[in-house]
Amino acid sequence: MINKILVRDLKLASPQLSVGMLTADLMSLGTELELIENAGVKLVHFDVMDGCFCPMMTVGPPVIKAVKTSMLKDVHLMIENPLVKLEACVAAGADMITLHVESDRYIHRALQVLGQMTNVNGSERGILRGIALNPGTPVDVVAPLLDEVEMVLLLAVNPGWGGQNFIPYITKKLALLKKVIAAANKDILIGLDGGVTRDNITDIAGLEPDIIVTGSAVFDGKTPAENARFMLEAVSKTIA
Ligand code: DX5
Ligand code: ZN
Repeated sequence: MINKILVRDLKLASPQLSVGMLTADLMSLGTELELIENAGVKLVHFDVMDGCFCPMMTVGPPVIKAVKTSMLKDVHLMIENPLVKLEACVAAGADMITLHVESDRYIHRALQVLGQMTNVNGSERGILRGIALNPGTPVDVVAPLLDEVEMVLLLAVNPGWGGQNFIPYITKKLALLKKVIAAANKDILIGLDGGVTRDNITDIAGLEPDIIVTGSAVFDGKTPAENARFMLEAVSKTIA
């Protein structure tokens, strides 16, 4: 079931910050997430990596399930053959699941299957489907998928690590993506993921994506709550 309400709410509140937990202090993940939730963050971004699709291995459904939060669970699958892992991610409480277009030869089918699944947090909530593009993947690949997604996520870094630099070309790619979506006349959310820091958040929010994913600029091992407030403040200033 598709989450039209969530799509509408995220569109209305855009740009929305989704904070990556990859560089959080995993020894006290619950406390760290509470800090950003209390600071006003509404989405937590789980980077699921299998060490095959991208070089790093991280967390999976058990950690996603263990996290108790009122923030939306935004799950980014950087794994090969995601179709076989969808059920486990949905059962873990994902509200949003983003697959990589490069990760499955039957990506259209995987998105169709995801579209039939029910959100365990509440059947009326549905699940928001995202398709992610690595920096080197042209935006045209999403055209045949726009009937099966609610979000397109542009990676502004090559997948695998937090703390990398934003790839400048992605600002041009965002403009190209907006044209592809406008031509399809679809209400699709656009996300940017990777390399978003205190220094560039204002410029990036000015490009008017709907979702901005940021990780190490918030979970820097020092002041996550203050960092979260700074990033939220910077984003809110761009909302006219
Ligand atoms: C990269 C991940 C990103 C990354 C964001 O593979 O998908 O979500 O962790 O972290 P920062 O904001 O530190 O680039
Ligand atoms: Zn991510």
